[in-house]
Amino acid sequence: MEPTDWKNRIKELEKANLILQKKLETSETERTELETLNQKTESLLKTVTEDFREYEKIVTARMSTLEKALENQQTMQLKLIEAEKMSALGILVAGIAHEINNPVNFIYGNITYVNDYTGDILKLLAMYQDRYPETDAEIEEFLEKIDIDFLREDLLKTISSMKVGSERIREIVLTLRNFARVDEAEKKPVNIHEGIESTLLILQHLTKEKPGNSAIKFIKSYGSLPKVECYAGQLNQVFMNIINNAVDALREREKKSSLDEREANPIQMSITTSINSENWARISIKDNGLGMNEAVKSKIFDPFFTTKPVGHGTGLGLSISYQIVVDKHGGRLECISAIGEGTELVIEIPIANSHS
Ligand SMILES: Nc1ncnc2c1ncn2[C@@H]1O[C@H](COP(=O)(O)OP(=O)(O)O)[C@@H](O)[C@H]1O
Ligand SMILES: [Mg+2]
Repeated sequence: MEPTDWKNRIKELEKANLILQKKLETSETERTELETLNQKTESLLKTVTEDFREYEKIVTARMSTLEKALENQQTMQLKLIEAEKMSALGILVAGIAHEINNPVNFIYGNITYVNDYTGDILKLLAMYQDRYPETDAEIEEFLEKIDIDFLREDLLKTISSMKVGSERIREIVLTLRNFARVDEAEKKPVNIHEGIESTLLILQHLTKEKPGNSAIKFIKSYGSLPKVECYAGQLNQVFMNIINNAVDALREREKKSSLDEREANPIQMSITTSINSENWARISIKDNGLGMNEAVKSKIFDPFFTTKPVGHGTGLGLSISYQIVVDKHGGRLECISAIGEGTELVIEIPIANSHS
């Protein structure tokens, strides 16, 4: 190569070097630019993530509020359904009681006449037999066929047992009407003892002796209570729920204890009424069942709380009772119970109250 060629070559190389350096410089600035951009993006991303977390928290909080609201609504709905069912049942019971009332009164009202007429006819027959002892063969045969002596004796017994039966139906009809009391949308002064007695009569099939179940012994001690101003139908529902629970507890103990144990301490329920120091009516319903522990006791008034098998308990009985006694009547509902000691539910309500 010629020296000039060398020079040219060097120049070219220098030029190329310069260009390269320039390029390097540009790419260096670009790199810094990119870096700052990257940093910016990163910080933006961080803020966005933080914001997102914040929102997530808000959304979770909202969700739980909504869930609670939904739960509350469901509880309310179920309470309403239960109340609705009770009132529908009340209407049905009152309707049936009303319908049975008339025909039963026909029977009851006429039995006295039937009794008198039969007595007269029998007397007439006796007179005939007395005056005309000799009758013809056909009559003789018939008298023998119907066993007239037995018939005479049995007829009056039959009528008197029909009378007892129809009296009993009348009583039940009266009780059902008293229990349902659907016509009463307002508070009225009522006899609390009548309400308790109707409830007990309606629950008789659960408290009486049956194969596998002994009879529950009732110890009633009714004080002298004036009439209490209340929603009678609703208060009867409270008695029903509480007595029903006591029956369940007693039956449970009966199932789990030995015969000796049961004989030594028979299953029983005490119902005591009195006036408390505030001049309120106090009704105590106490069983000697298995009782409950503190954990159960603290939840018994919660809606849906039940320790009973599926299909047996709804867990609504005591929560509805609480609502009726406390909210509707301005009263108190308390539970005293311990394992092995049985359970006492105490209802206290003002005798004349202005509570709505
Ligand atoms: N007399 C009682 N003895 C023992 N436990 C009771 C008694 N009464 C209520 N309980 C407890 O309280 C729970 C709630 O009662 P309740 O609201 O009437 O619902 P349910 O009877 O449908 O279970 C029962 O499941 C039971 O565990
Ligand atoms: Mg119950």
